[in-house]
Amino acid sequence: MLEEALAEIRSAPDARALQLLRVAWLGRKGRVTERLKTLGGLAPEERRAAGAEINALKQAVEQAFDERERALEAAAVQAQLERERVDVTLPGLRPAAGAHHLLTQVMHKLTDVFRTLGYEVVVGPELEDDHHNFEALNFPPEHPARDTQDTFWTTDGRLLRTHTSPMQVRYMRDHRPPFKVVVPGKVFRNEAVDTTHEAQFHQLEALVVGERITMADMRGAIEAMAVALFGPGTRTRLQPTFFPFVEPGAEFAIWWTHPKTGKEEWLELGGCGMVHPNVFRAVGYEDVTGFAFGFGLERMAMVTYGVSDIRDLYRGDVRVLRQFRGVA
Ligand code: DAH
Repeated sequence: MLEEALAEIRSAPDARALQLLRVAWLGRKGRVTERLKTLGGLAPEERRAAGAEINALKQAVEQAFDERERALEAAAVQAQLERERVDVTLPGLRPAAGAHHLLTQVMHKLTDVFRTLGYEVVVGPELEDDHHNFEALNFPPEHPARDTQDTFWTTDGRLLRTHTSPMQVRYMRDHRPPFKVVVPGKVFRNEAVDTTHEAQFHQLEALVVGERITMADMRGAIEAMAVALFGPGTRTRLQPTFFPFVEPGAEFAIWWTHPKTGKEEWLELGGCGMVHPNVFRAVGYEDVTGFAFGFGLERMAMVTYGVSDIRDLYRGDVRVLRQFRGVA
């Protein structure tokens, strides 16, 4: 009987079959149990030996069940490990990470340069008023210089700032010199849109005010920026021009090698000058001098990275965006 039980138990294919066998052998009406019941019918002198024999049988059967159970469990774990095996040598899936827009990259690069030079980075409102955008910057009400900055007016008489220069006025009004600040930000002009003009673009404005700040300091600041952007030895040029809020005023350019044509040429970047006495008067400053400069980021980004149509910077076309992932 033991041999028969062991053979069945050892060939049970799974836990369920084993459970059925357990009932068949050890259950209330199981074969081993039935055998135990026969003890009652034996003569007392036979009972002892038969009892020992049946108990040994029962123990052996129980032990076989336990062993088979453990073996089946181990096999199940092994099978699961096989099924869920991971090939750690397969190449990974690259997560779809976003990236900064080219203009944002250029902006960060510039503000990093100026932070290194000790400037504070501040921002101001895009919705401005006539006073900050024009009046306090020495544009009188009917002055023709206003015509160069076609303005979007709101119905309540305010305007979208046409340049970042109004932050000069706001910053000076709220702070005492000496200081060095740069103001990156969006500006707006009512322009006919074409490959080099958008109604919305970005500028970076710098303002440095203190005692005995000179044009040489301005030159040095512009040159430091040029060197940081385009490498050691980069040259800069100033050409006299007019902006109402500076005197003297100039246009500044950087001598560089055009990445597409390979030609060396002057890259006209922006305007600069010594802060006009009328601007200092408008914010109540006395006995200080200062310089300011400002320029457009789109133009700088376009010539540096070979973007020929400004509108490509605003279309949000991923084919364009991908080309400028992590360039600046
Ligand atoms: N705000 C001027 C513009 O948008 C640029 C400019 C010229 C800024 C001269 C300056 C400056 O700070 O000194 O055309």
